Amino acid sequence: MQRARKTASAFSPLIAINRKSARPLHRQIYDAYRSTIVGRTLSSGQQIPSTRALASELGISRIPVLNAYAQLLAEGYFETRVGAGTFVSRSLSKRIVAPQNPCAVSTQIGSGPRRLARSSLLLPPYKRDPWVRHRGAFSVSQPALDAFPFKIWANLVARHGRNAPTHSLEYGDPIGLKQLREVIAVYLRTSRAVRCEPQQIMIVSGSQQALDLSVRVLLNPGNSIWMEDPGYWLARHVLAAAGCRIIPVPVDADGLDVAAGIERCRTARAALVAPSHQYPLGVTMGASRRLQLLQWARQTGAWIIEDDYDSEYRFESKPIASLQGLDDASRVIYIGTFSKVLFPALRVGYLVLPPDLVDPFLAVRHAMDVSPAHFHQAVLAEFIAEGHFSRHLRRMRALYGERRSVLLDSLHREFGSYLKVFGNVAGMHLAVTVPKGLQDRQMALRAAAESLWLWPLSPFYATKPAQQGFVLGFGSTTAAEIPPAIRQMHKILLATRH
Ligand SMILES: Cc1ncc(COP(=O)(O)O)c(C=O)c1O
Repeated sequence: MQRARKTASAFSPLIAINRKSARPLHRQIYDAYRSTIVGRTLSSGQQIPSTRALASELGISRIPVLNAYAQLLAEGYFETRVGAGTFVSRSLSKRIVAPQNPCAVSTQIGSGPRRLARSSLLLPPYKRDPWVRHRGAFSVSQPALDAFPFKIWANLVARHGRNAPTHSLEYGDPIGLKQLREVIAVYLRTSRAVRCEPQQIMIVSGSQQALDLSVRVLLNPGNSIWMEDPGYWLARHVLAAAGCRIIPVPVDADGLDVAAGIERCRTARAALVAPSHQYPLGVTMGASRRLQLLQWARQTGAWIIEDDYDSEYRFESKPIASLQGLDDASRVIYIGTFSKVLFPALRVGYLVLPPDLVDPFLAVRHAMDVSPAHFHQAVLAEFIAEGHFSRHLRRMRALYGERRSVLLDSLHREFGSYLKVFGNVAGMHLAVTVPKGLQDRQMALRAAAESLWLWPLSPFYATKPAQQGFVLGFGSTTAAEIPPAIRQMHKILLATRH
C-alpha cells in the first residue's frame, strides 16, 4: 500500500521497444529517456517508475532497465531520493539547452481547412467580464458559502467514501439516483407546490444541462422560442447554439408580458421563463399572467420551460407556488438547481418532466453523458433525508433576509429616489435602474477596477436596453460590508456621470 502511494505519480513514458533492432534493449531505454529529458517532455523533478514497474510494463527482464537507469544516474539525468524513488534530476533544468516547448509541434496549425460546427460559431467567445464570479459586494449568483455546513457535508462524504457499495461504481441510471429523486419529489411537492412523482424527476448537472437537454428534445433548429428580455445570458447561449430563433419578450413589473409575446410570435414552439424571481429584474410573475401563459401554451401546443433557480428565498411572504403546479395540460418542464441553495460547484440540478416526455429525455440524456455521477447524488440524498437541507434553507433565508434589508436601507439612505429598486422580495439579488443618460457598463468597469462588482443591466437585453442599471447580489456580501460598499458605489456613480 505504502509503496503504491509513493510511486502513484510516476508515469511511464512511451518507449517503443524493438526486439529485432541491433541496438540493445538497455540502449533503447537509455535513448528514450535521454531524448524525452532533453526535449523536456519529462520535466526536472518528475518521478520515474521503479525498474520493476517499467520492466513489467515493457514486458522485458529487469536487467536492461537496471543498466539503463544506472547509466542515466551516472550521467546526471536521474537522481535518487532515499525512500522516495528515482526522479529526473532537478539540477538539469538550467543546463539543458533545449528551449523548445514539447507541445510546440502538436499545436502547429497545418494548411488544411479547420471547419467548426455552426453551433460553436453562433456563440460569442468564452470570456469573463470583470464583474463575473467574484465573491463580495455585489457579486451576483454567489451564495454565502462560508455559512454552508461543510462539516456535516464532509462527514457524509467520508461515510459514503468508506461504505460505497461496489455497484455504486457501475454505470448509473440515466434518470439519476432513485433515493435522490425521492427526496427531491417530497421537497418539491411540499415546498414548491410542484406536482410530481420521483419517476418524473431527472438529475442533471445544473440548470444549464437541464436547459440544454430540454432544447435538444423539444426544439428543432429554426424553431421560435420566447425569452424574457432582459434575460439570463447563459440561457440565451444555449438557445443560440441550438440554432433557435429567439423572440425577446419584454418584462414589466408583473413578469413576462404574455400579450406582447403572442403579438410577436403566437406560434412559438416554447417559452423560457423564470416566473418566481425573474433574472435579472427579480420581479415575480403575477397570477393572471401565469394563467394567460398556460392558456397560450394549451391553445397553441407550446412548451413552457420554467427556470426556478432561487425561489426558495422569499422574504415577505411564503414562496410563490410554481407555474408547473398550475398546469393541467402537462406543458411545463420544470427546472431546479442546488447551485444557489447549496453551492454551485456541486453541479446538481433536476428536471421535472411531464410523464410522456420522460422516455425521449432519457434517450437523449443517455446519448449525451450516459448518467449523472453517482457519488454526490448519494451524499446529497442523505443530506436532504437527514434534515440538513431544510435546516440550511431556514438559516439562509434569515441570513439573506438580513442582508437584503441592510442593502435596501443603505440604497435608500445613500441614493434616495435617484435609483429605482426592483425585485427585492425574493432570491439573492435585486436590480436598480439609473436615470436616463447614464451608461451602466462604463460605471461597472470603473467599479470593477476598485473591486466593487456591479453587474450592468444593459448586457442582459437582446434588444435595445429599455433601461440602464445594475444587478446587485447580496448572497456573498455580509451585512457589515454593505453600507460602505453602497457609499463607494455612490462615489463611482457621481464620478462617472459625464
Ligand atoms: C436565471 C438562472 N438560472 C439558473 C442558474 C443556475 O445555473 P446552474 O444550475 O447551471 O448553476 C442561474 C445562475 O446564475 C441563473 O441566474
